[in-house]
Amino acid sequence: MLSKSQARNFFLGFTVLFSGTFLALTVDSIRQVPARSHEDQMTAQVVAGKEIWETNNCMGCHTLLGEGAYYAPELTKVVERRGEGYLKMFLRDPQAMYPGRRKMVQYNFTPEQIDEVIAFLTWIGKIDTNGFPAAPDLAPLAGASTK
Ligand code: HEC
Repeated sequence: MLSKSQARNFFLGFTVLFSGTFLALTVDSIRQVPARSHEDQMTAQVVAGKEIWETNNCMGCHTLLGEGAYYAPELTKVVERRGEGYLKMFLRDPQAMYPGRRKMVQYNFTPEQIDEVIAFLTWIGKIDTNGFPAAPDLAPLAGASTK
């Protein structure tokens, strides 16, 4: 059994230890942000793309870095996955790519705005996210398609 003063010292000691650990880890995370987010590459075009992203409620359907709504595909790695050429075509006329399926809004973006959106999504895609989102495991589908 701990005496009262032992219990108090136990409580205080570990409170200090874990608060210190928490603070150290927080400082360490914050120090890594500039390198991991490569914020030095945040050009005016990237910023304009983010503004388009925010003013058109893209998050109402999509997620970026896992945040947003789950109606439409996660877009963190979309540039890597689809390539710029595909995205330019898609953003010009989304419905041409998927006739009769779930619909992405036709925003009638100008070519400059499309470039801005793609610049923003490219920048997002280069953030070091510790591997998020994981690549989909397509092995089960590969088996199914041969039957
Ligand atoms: C009303 C819901 C909705 C909104 C709002 C929306 N999208 Fe989409 N988006 C979709 C759907 C649905 C798809 C997938 C198309 C399909 O499967 O038919 C899609 C697909 C995409 C794709 C291609 C994804 C891929 O993997 O091929 C990109 C890029 C994209 N949207 C960007 C945007 C941007 C940028 C905005 C905001 C300017 C936006 N979306 C707003 C519904 C939406």
